[in-house]
Amino acid sequence: MDKLKIVGGNQLDGELTISGAKNAALPILAGSLLSSEVINLQNVPQLNDVATMLTLLQSLGVKVIFDERMNLQLDSSDISSYCAPYDLVKTMRASILVLGPLLARFGQAKVSLPGGCAIGARPVNFHIQGLEAMGAKITVKNGYINASAEKLSGANINFSRVSVTGTQNIMMAAVLARGETVIKNAAKEPEVIDLANFLNSMGAKIIDAGSDKIVIEGVETLKESKYEILPDRIEAGTYLVATAITGGKIRLKQVVPEHLTAVISKLEEAGAIIDVGDNWIDLDMRSKRPSSVNLETTPYPGFPTDMQAQFCALNSVASGSAIIKETIFENRFQHINELHRMGADIEIQGNNALIKGKKILTAAPVMATDLRASAGLIIAALAAQGETVIDRIYHIDRGYERIEEKLHQLGADISRESG
Ligand code: EPZ
Repeated sequence: MDKLKIVGGNQLDGELTISGAKNAALPILAGSLLSSEVINLQNVPQLNDVATMLTLLQSLGVKVIFDERMNLQLDSSDISSYCAPYDLVKTMRASILVLGPLLARFGQAKVSLPGGCAIGARPVNFHIQGLEAMGAKITVKNGYINASAEKLSGANINFSRVSVTGTQNIMMAAVLARGETVIKNAAKEPEVIDLANFLNSMGAKIIDAGSDKIVIEGVETLKESKYEILPDRIEAGTYLVATAITGGKIRLKQVVPEHLTAVISKLEEAGAIIDVGDNWIDLDMRSKRPSSVNLETTPYPGFPTDMQAQFCALNSVASGSAIIKETIFENRFQHINELHRMGADIEIQGNNALIKGKKILTAAPVMATDLRASAGLIIAALAAQGETVIDRIYHIDRGYERIEEKLHQLGADISRESG
């Protein structure tokens, strides 16, 4: 199992180009099932989760070709299976995103229940309820969702709480349904908008994606498309916090600053000087120690839960005390036990983390538990005294492209030990 070794204390300084967004690429890859014509995708991030989704699509019969510039060509003209098996789905919950497209185009799907993960139970009841409202017959047996529908019908779907992939699955099911679907209390994340833009580029009729009420007019078929995945706002935010904790400075290129408004405002509150252009962000911490910041995770455009662990690390060495409240997932403080091993002063009270900043964290052997927790541990290690060894970093490879190369390029003392 690979480990990362990080000797803390170096200030990060340099430029970095951000990769395509994992959480846009995954639904868009699933959405390619909706057309029998060739789909070309650019700016697809080279991540383990993307590789898993491509393996799943290939198991269904999709032909997948990467060209020399890592552009992706997908051909779903000859689908031979409608089953997403447990051994693939258990490694990546986002596999549930093939359920809507398979049902919409082929009228059948058998998808393993994703099961929970480190951060929570991760139920998919909203996905199932939405598809049933559209006329799907769904039974759940032996760990599988068995779904069928002659032809899905448009429906009024009202989510009792915001769900990103729930919104995306229903949106994909609705593009080929008979009539109009209205999704209320829809997720407003940029990755929902990117999926809608991709589907519309194939001939779908989706309006007001990005608002809390999305309207989809079903069409007969979708055609070919060439589409570029939007930049990854969470990767970008992660490198901004990594730079801030070291007192350094960075220019991020190929980003969408307005997708990071909540994160940027918290970093400015922590003392960072930030400047933005149309596709770049500059952060300069001027060698200063960050100030503690209170925050609460909420659905977009609020502060993203996927940046919570990173700010726990930042607050652990900040001046002052702060409370971080996690409202999206019920078990997303796994990184805190590991930060304790590095000397962090954090007390968990329900879904609040009470963090007293300390001048020094000390290196320790720690263990990654989930994707964003791993990012939080790397950020803490960049500031800790001594050499931190992070185990089980397969978690980090799911969502960050070549992280040790990018951090090394910025001046971090980091290496990967294959084991
Ligand atoms: C997406 O997960 C992201 N994953 C997550 O990113 C992200 O943390 C999350 O949205 C919140 O922003 C992808 O896009 C692939 P939800 P998703 O449905 O869609 C409950 C990362 O690190 N819920 O918005 O699974 C659920 O338990 C990952 O990149 C139900 O109760 O999250 C949670 O408490 C981690 N029933 C809340 O809603 C359902 O049917 C929000 O979950 C669905 C969700």
